[in-house]
Amino acid sequence: MIRFASSLRRLRNGALWLAAAAAVGAAAPAWSAGHGIFEGADLALGERLIRENQCDACHIRRVGGNGHGIYNPKGRISTPGALRGMVEYCSTELNLQLFPEEVTAVGAVLQRDHYRFK
Ligand code: HEC
Repeated sequence: MIRFASSLRRLRNGALWLAAAAAVGAAAPAWSAGHGIFEGADLALGERLIRENQCDACHIRRVGGNGHGIYNPKGRISTPGALRGMVEYCSTELNLQLFPEEVTAVGAVLQRDHYRFK
């Protein structure tokens, strides 16, 4: 319980730091993830958010391996919009306070690496 609370606090600090970094990075050109709502998403930002918010660490506790087995085991997420919605839901639940562009960036990385919607 204590460990969980402190990891949540870490998550929140990380999000604040990232918010600052995102504000600085906003002027930089974003390159395209090339897919609908993820078009133009900042993939480097998404990768960093996934790493720094310990998405994999928690998913590994749930499914083992490298944690990637958590992504769409039953095809429940079937559209880019549903994927983005799930990222938003997780980030709200975890109180990550991501900006909309950050949610999109994370979704775009998951789309590229795991979901691969056509
Ligand atoms: C505290 C633990 C925890 C953390 C941290 C966490 N998740 Fe999750 N996540 C889960 C659990 C548990 C599920 C499975 C929910 C279910 O099956 O109903 C899940 C499911 C998901 C799914 C849906 C998978 C699918 O296709 O059905 C996505 C997408 C996701 N997480 C993204 C993220 C992202 C992105 C982050 C980091 C910003 C993150 N999660 C951090 C626990 C966590």
